[in-house]
Amino acid sequence: MEMVGMIEFELKCSECGRKFNLRSRKWRCDCGSALNLEIVEYPKCEKFADLVSPNERSLWRYGRLLPFSDIGVSLGEGLTPVILKKHGGIDVFFKLEYFSPTGSFKDRGACMGVTRARAISARTIVEDSSGNAGLAYSAYSASAGIRARIYVPSDAPVGKRELMKACGADVVECETREEASERAISELRGDEIYVGHTWDPFFLEGMKTESFEVFEEGIFVDSVIIPTSSGSHLLGVYRGFEDLVEMGFLDNLPAFYVVQAGGITPIYDEVHGRWYGGKGDLADGLRVKNPPRLKQIIEVLRRTNGDVVVVDNEGIVSAMKELYRMGLIVEPTSATAYAGLNEIVGIGDMKSVLIPLTGTGIKTIERIKFLSGE
Ligand SMILES: Cc1ncc(COP(=O)(O)O)c(C=O)c1O
Ligand SMILES: [Zn+2]
Repeated sequence: MEMVGMIEFELKCSECGRKFNLRSRKWRCDCGSALNLEIVEYPKCEKFADLVSPNERSLWRYGRLLPFSDIGVSLGEGLTPVILKKHGGIDVFFKLEYFSPTGSFKDRGACMGVTRARAISARTIVEDSSGNAGLAYSAYSASAGIRARIYVPSDAPVGKRELMKACGADVVECETREEASERAISELRGDEIYVGHTWDPFFLEGMKTESFEVFEEGIFVDSVIIPTSSGSHLLGVYRGFEDLVEMGFLDNLPAFYVVQAGGITPIYDEVHGRWYGGKGDLADGLRVKNPPRLKQIIEVLRRTNGDVVVVDNEGIVSAMKELYRMGLIVEPTSATAYAGLNEIVGIGDMKSVLIPLTGTGIKTIERIKFLSGE
């Protein structure tokens, strides 16, 4: 238990409960399980506003609820806009995460991850990524004067790969997403830290700020739909809502729904049995076949009465068309959440839903030619 920033946190194994120093370089527990950051004692405040730094236009607006806030790095992340659309009788709140500094929600995680790297004076961070998280880490580590080595599958969108290199990262191209994960870990040297977002608890902590923003804006939803690969986004947003409930600002958690893309469906397979259907490989960001936090993801679905659905390329294309006709410039991975909406409406009792639009279409321009008929 340690004071870093304004409140006490514990770095704790999600399975065996073993605790580690917050400045530890461990990226998982000795038992092999993922680590979590836990707030030891929640601040006691009348209003959520008392915990907010109103003049701070970045993730550090919520610095009182985050570790290492005294040395936080920033590129102006967070405070993404929300727009309301009607879909049938449902209020759909699109949170435009693609407004982030590198064009995806991953900036929230990289902001925290690089802040922690700075806190322990790390010189090099190592990450594996389908593209967006790698770019977010590349930009944030460049801003903090820390080296970044990013392992990516060689077929990751060229826009994502080139931008990482432009930020000065060492980009290691691998044959597959799995090879990227394996090599990032096996080639780690003693003076480097592994910040892989599929494992990293600090990365996850940054995602909480998305829930805090929604709450601060006075938006209340009964459901949330998140396109999910490793679950860092889903778990972080969930934990943000959980904090709000713990502190007594919110009565109930929304139901969390996960969307996966055909072909790589570990969460669906675990909940409903093996999924057979068309490919969803247009969603280049949903490629983690063995999410280290699978058990935690399923627990969130169970606890909130949520569910998981799968979409294929056909569904992604028609969702993309609809979103672009609304002027929402997203990448195919982000469109999966909207593609899953109709099926999810049929499962739950939904009146209002939050759909983060996770990444910009501008980085994946070569993959969306079908929208203009080319
Ligand atoms: C645009 C986009 N949306 C969603 C995801 C899935 O995020 P997570 O791995 O946190 O589940 C990714 C992951 O790369 C992504 O790039
Ligand atoms: Zn453990």
